[in-house]
Amino acid sequence: MTYFEAVSEAAKFLQDKLGPLTPKVGVVLGSGLGAVASSVTEAVYVSYREIPHFPQSTVEGHTGRVVAGRMGSTPVIVLQGRVHFYEGYTPAQVTFPMRVLGALGVEAVILTNAAGGIDESYEPGQLVALSDHINMMGWNPLVGPNEPRFAQKKNAGLRFFDMTEAYSQRLRALAKQAAHDEGITIGEGVYLAVSGPSFETPAEIRAFRTMGATLVGMSTVPETIVARHMGIEVLGISCVTNKAAGLNARPLSHEEVFETGRLVERRLSGVVERLVVWIATMVEAEA
Ligand code: HPA
Repeated sequence: MTYFEAVSEAAKFLQDKLGPLTPKVGVVLGSGLGAVASSVTEAVYVSYREIPHFPQSTVEGHTGRVVAGRMGSTPVIVLQGRVHFYEGYTPAQVTFPMRVLGALGVEAVILTNAAGGIDESYEPGQLVALSDHINMMGWNPLVGPNEPRFAQKKNAGLRFFDMTEAYSQRLRALAKQAAHDEGITIGEGVYLAVSGPSFETPAEIRAFRTMGATLVGMSTVPETIVARHMGIEVLGISCVTNKAAGLNARPLSHEEVFETGRLVERRLSGVVERLVVWIATMVEAEA
């Protein structure tokens, strides 16, 4: 079975579970941010274990299930928990769920993550919308034969494609408005992805700052690349869970990352819920 066939099989399995629901907006939840899924109504839950070929999350704080339903009256599909390269998954496995979202007809995704703050002005708990990324994972998920059938739009699915606006400017503007309406501010930053699992050294953080990064994390970038390959519009939102190595008063730990995520997830839920409705309206008006 080819990778494309495996994705198609997983998508068909999920669509059968979803019934007539056809979400145009997808949400991926990062470490400690799972509660955002609790604002989904008429929810259908599908464990990653049930879905053919779907990778299983092994990290604490990543539940590993699809939550499909509505936010307001808007259909939405939420991936509660993601898999990472550092867990031992291949790039193809790491991006499998994003491919499935594409195969289901999703046209825009909100990718959330926990990140370390490289910019000294960032405080733990702050939300930052991604304006761009730097891929320091050492690999690209699209290496290998190109598969144009993954295209969701005309002019997508290309071997070489533009990444100038990897993160949609108009979705970022909506995110700022949604945050404002929730009574919070959302910054803007550049996310640098490393493979992990070790946190960075202070020297690495200084180097990354010189390169132009304001956030560091171990996810999101592969998903963004694959989403853009399919022509899916991307909004990235980082939750700064800690100051990056060398800026932090205490050693970094997964507990700190996880606990800060838990404190922020309520605020993030409000923002995401508004955004899903607005983005779906925008996408549907263009159909
Ligand atoms: N570094 C890398 N990934 C992270 C961090 C960090 O400091 N915090 C949360 N995810």
